[in-house]
Amino acid sequence: MPQIQALAGRCLAEYYPPDAFWSAMSDWPSGQLAACDGRAVAGFLCGARKSGSVATVALLAVDERMRGRGIGSALLGAFLEAAFGEGFSVVDLEARADDQRAISFYEGRGFARAELRPMAYADGSDAVCMAICGPPERRVGAPLKPLRSTGFMKLV
Ligand SMILES: CC(C)(COP(=O)(O)OP(=O)(O)OC[C@H]1O[C@@H](n2cnc3c(N)ncnc32)[C@H](O)[C@@H]1OP(=O)(O)O)[C@@H](O)C(=O)NCCC(=O)NCCS
Repeated sequence: MPQIQALAGRCLAEYYPPDAFWSAMSDWPSGQLAACDGRAVAGFLCGARKSGSVATVALLAVDERMRGRGIGSALLGAFLEAAFGEGFSVVDLEARADDQRAISFYEGRGFARAELRPMAYADGSDAVCMAICGPPERRVGAPLKPLRSTGFMKLV
């Protein structure tokens, strides 16, 4: 858990207190995923259950040194598999409206822009709300298999 908190602190613009991670873990253990390189956490995804039919990607980050190797896609794919497998029909998320790379990342993995939420972040930035609908065959990504040639990935 300390590694995940440190990664979030380095990679995400907003501050998330340690309690937020413990609370996510206790609310929905199967919605919390980490990709590990040995004992080091390379990336993580924190999910949350919003309603009976909607799950959300609350946080997603990959270590700067490990990006571009498919880890983010695998975490997202594994999360969609878990969420749709548990019966959720929609997975949504918010990205900073000025973060075109993150928005393109999600669009490239099947998410569509839904609406703009003005001044959603502490610094006054707007959020773009995005969503993907089931059924599971619409999922993208390649979860739960070794990544490229490295073969190190483990989801816990
Ligand atoms: C977005 C993020 C999770 C992607 O993780 P990743 O392991 O590099 O993703 P993959 O290797 O599976 O895919 C790489 C894709 O991410 C995109 N990307 C988005 N932000 C990126 C960044 N800061 N650095 C490198 N690639 C990034 C690349 O353009 C590439 O897109 P493409 O394959 O459609 O061309 C990661 O870049 C990250 O942690 N960014 C900072 C935090 C963040 O933006 N989180 C999401 C906010 S809602």
